[in-house]
Amino acid sequence: MTQPVDLIVIGAGPGGYIAAIRAAQLGLSVVCIDAWVGPKGGAAPGGTCTNVGCIPSKALLQSSEHYEHAGHAFADHGIQIKGLGLDLARMIARKDQVVRQNNEGILYLFKKNKVQFIHGRASFVGKVEGGFQVQVDGSTPQTHTGKQVVIATGSSPRALPGVAFDEDRILSNAGALALTEVPKRLGVIGAGVIGLEMGSVWRRLGSEVTVLEALPDFLGAADAQLAKEALKQFTKQGLDIQLGVKLTEVKAQAQGVKLQYADAKGVAHELEVDRLIVSIGRIPHSEGLNLEAVGLQPDARGFVPVDDECRTSIAGIWAVGDVVRGPMLAHKAEEEGVAVAERISGQKPHVDFNTVPWVIYTSPEIAWVGQTEQALKAAGRAYKAGSFPFLANGRARALGDTTGFVKVLSDTETDTILGVHIIGPMASELIAEAAVAMEFKAAAEDIARICHAHPTLSEALKEAALATDGRSLNF
Ligand code: FAD
Ligand code: NAI
Repeated sequence: MTQPVDLIVIGAGPGGYIAAIRAAQLGLSVVCIDAWVGPKGGAAPGGTCTNVGCIPSKALLQSSEHYEHAGHAFADHGIQIKGLGLDLARMIARKDQVVRQNNEGILYLFKKNKVQFIHGRASFVGKVEGGFQVQVDGSTPQTHTGKQVVIATGSSPRALPGVAFDEDRILSNAGALALTEVPKRLGVIGAGVIGLEMGSVWRRLGSEVTVLEALPDFLGAADAQLAKEALKQFTKQGLDIQLGVKLTEVKAQAQGVKLQYADAKGVAHELEVDRLIVSIGRIPHSEGLNLEAVGLQPDARGFVPVDDECRTSIAGIWAVGDVVRGPMLAHKAEEEGVAVAERISGQKPHVDFNTVPWVIYTSPEIAWVGQTEQALKAAGRAYKAGSFPFLANGRARALGDTTGFVKVLSDTETDTILGVHIIGPMASELIAEAAVAMEFKAAAEDIARICHAHPTLSEALKEAALATDGRSLNF
């Protein structure tokens, strides 16, 4: 039995490791426990994001985009490449190295901030005087007491009913990031964020990709105009995206996977693929924590119920990230982690969920913050819309990447920015200016009057802001 600490954090994904570091910065004694097992059997802090999510997917998106550019776009720039080849093993090894660097970076940060890191699986023993007892089943089983506990156990991929992931033919995100050869025919179930990002990676590397989506609308959470443009571009690139599909059978076979489904008109189809990625959402990871021992219970979907400030119903126990309500995004988990550490230390931080940006790292990239046009219409809000195409942006032309546009939505009366939607080059970076503007409650005119460097892609945001008032200068 060890000395009680101020805070135990369960999970070292972006929610947990950031909460642990912030709490330690504020002078708390912190233990952070994480169960993730790296490829060599040791600890691999960073959670889904670092090991099989944000980081490895962006590494492969970058590598596969370089490959596609080398094969198709470089010629336009007058660069000739002969004998272009793909070394997939090297590409995957590079991705693994990027992951490892991030794992090691987190271990370094723990040391630097004096967070005690323990590799193992944690579960509650119960409430004791002075806090909560947590046991760790790892190479050295141990028990710790924390005055407070943050649950940051993340999420796991959802499987199709009766179709388990074997990570050979039926792949979750983990298997989709670790293929050793490019499948000739790749099936993807779910045209959500993972389906589009991973479908793009393998299409660029040579797969024929068929994406089957249950809903009739493409990317329903995005602004409808953005979603329409994205569907057009992805289809042009060769992704076969079928909407309104109903799967009737999925069967792994010796050599691949056989699918049966009805299309949007109810017509039955059969499809054979070599590999199948199932990306139909994620489920919160709350099992195995023995929550009952401290009087907690997950809701019907497995989420740990919390209030707006990440408090559970038990004083002293908090929960953040994918295991609680809200978007399953790394930066949302981080913001919650920081805010909880600060609340425990007596501060009064605030997380504005309306300014959490969304990014889909396809090509073109898709990014937005705030409300969509369809949501504003549904709410009966009076708004102005201004758009600007990258085709009219000098930097985009110089880059050779003029697909897409920026759209700014602002309140008719006050001109306050209500939403910004971008599809096009570097949308992931451009959206930060919009998020800052919205955090400061800026008007579209504020962005329109700020001097933006020329030639930059960010001028497209300025021009879209001008366009809300019908006064674009370059279009
Ligand atoms: P996690 O990152 O899941 O971490 C939870 C940790 O807790 C894990 O290490 C787990 O092993 C550990 N754990 C669980 N139970 C226990 C236990 N009982 N004891 C000890 N440890 C335990 N989000 C973005 O914002 N941008 C992106 O580009 C992006 N790309 C993604 C790509 C893919 C393919 C996937 C799958 C997800 C992506 N996400 C992205 C989502 C992002 O990964 C998650 O939102 C984020 O990781 C959630 O952080 P978290 O800390 O809540 O949980
Ligand atoms: P998702 O929720 O983005 O998309 C799942 C899709 O599958 C939906 O369109 C849904 O309608 C569809 N679907 C569900 N059941 C189906 C069925 N039986 N047949 C056909 N389609 C079906 O979930 P996804 O892609 O698995 O990603 C999980 C989460 O991970 C995302 O919601 C996001 O929070 C996070 N993520 C974020 C990324 C980013 O920020 N760039 C990248 C990847 C993941």
